[in-house]
Amino acid sequence: MKQMILEGGHSLSGVIEISGSKNSAVALVPASLLTNGVIELTNIPEISDIEALTEILVFLGAEITRENNNMKIDCTKVKNKEIPETISKRLRASYYFMGALLGKYKHVEMYFPGGCSIGKRPINFHLEGFEKLGAKVKVEGNKYIVEADELIGNDIYFNIASVGATINLMLAATYAKGITTIHNAAREPHVINVAQLLNKMGAKVTGAGSSTIQIEGVTTLESAKIEVVPDYIEAGTYVIAGALCGDHLEVRNLVPEHIATLTDILKKMGADIDIGENKICVTRAKTYKPLAIKTEVFPGFPTDLQQPLTPLLALAHGISTIEESIFENRFMHIPYLQEMGAKITVDGRKATIEGPTSFQAKHVVATDLRAGASLILTALIAEGTTTMEGIEHVLRGYENIVLKLMQVGAKISIQEI
Ligand code: EPU
Repeated sequence: MKQMILEGGHSLSGVIEISGSKNSAVALVPASLLTNGVIELTNIPEISDIEALTEILVFLGAEITRENNNMKIDCTKVKNKEIPETISKRLRASYYFMGALLGKYKHVEMYFPGGCSIGKRPINFHLEGFEKLGAKVKVEGNKYIVEADELIGNDIYFNIASVGATINLMLAATYAKGITTIHNAAREPHVINVAQLLNKMGAKVTGAGSSTIQIEGVTTLESAKIEVVPDYIEAGTYVIAGALCGDHLEVRNLVPEHIATLTDILKKMGADIDIGENKICVTRAKTYKPLAIKTEVFPGFPTDLQQPLTPLLALAHGISTIEESIFENRFMHIPYLQEMGAKITVDGRKATIEGPTSFQAKHVVATDLRAGASLILTALIAEGTTTMEGIEHVLRGYENIVLKLMQVGAKISIQEI
């Protein structure tokens, strides 16, 4: 087993380049299966979630060529097969094979997806959406068999603007007869990125980025090439690192509008932040003001940045609150922050944080991806040396996080225990 060792108290200066978006890449890779041609994806992050998806693609017969951050997926020999549970449960995004395989072959057999334990994370919207397109869903224990004689376009309404269900229905509907309209669709940048790939392949998707997406079914999809958008959650994480301990920390190659809610919050708290066209420069402020935060679907404040933001709120002078409105179990980092000195109480989906805090290094465990990011950021400002288990969660979503932080002055190493 590996653990991360982080020595606190060093300021971060220099440049961090942002990688391609995890949540975009993990949808673009399965989406490639919709063609019998070749899909080229550039700016693919090197993270373990992509490795797991690649294994599924290879299992289905795709030929993958990787060179640095570019990936070529040759789908000419792909065959539809039941995806083994051992691979599908390794990550959440395996659910995108449902939409892609159902769309292309009208039949898919796979198991409930895995991913971070941050709530129940049902997939009922996905399945109800497939049914609306005319598919029949059979559940055998943990296994889902979804099939249709043909898929027919329909109106689909989501109660919550679900990212996964929106993208999955876009994938399935590309080959459905007629027009599918998704109402209350998710508007995240990765939804747009997937629609761009589908359109380059020859699909007819309009409205991505708004709450109503229309997909006019087609009969073939061709080869295409697309660049993965920059990861705004990774960018937000490093911008928060800059607010915690930056000394002119420049976060480059991001789209500042994608994290406008975060930068607004940081400005309100008193951060020294300078926003350029595709970069943000942050220096730690002497003091921070407390704030009440609520997570919301895009373009609201993202749930994925709630955990990384917690240590900064704990530095603020006074009472801050975080209301987590998306996932019911996304406070698993808090017991560790409490051990490190934070005064936080949790009541249901609300955390109340009383600052300021002087963090002390401890032995901590990353229980999920963003909890891990939160603990790494806290360790950077804690007094002493923090050790962290569970780094595999962090490596699922942050490309080269150790190297990127070390290059700007953090003292981190990985040790086998
Ligand atoms: N929901 C349902 N039924 C469904 C689908 C969703 O009730 O069928 C609920 C969820 O339980 C949740 C809400 O709707 O309360 C929103 O869930 P959503 O479907 O948007 O989330 P997801 O597709 O499971 C993706 C990201 C998450 C990110 C969320 C929200 C991927 C692979 N995962 O999850 O990413 O937090 O959207 O933006 O894209 C992360 O990167 O750390 C991460 C967890």
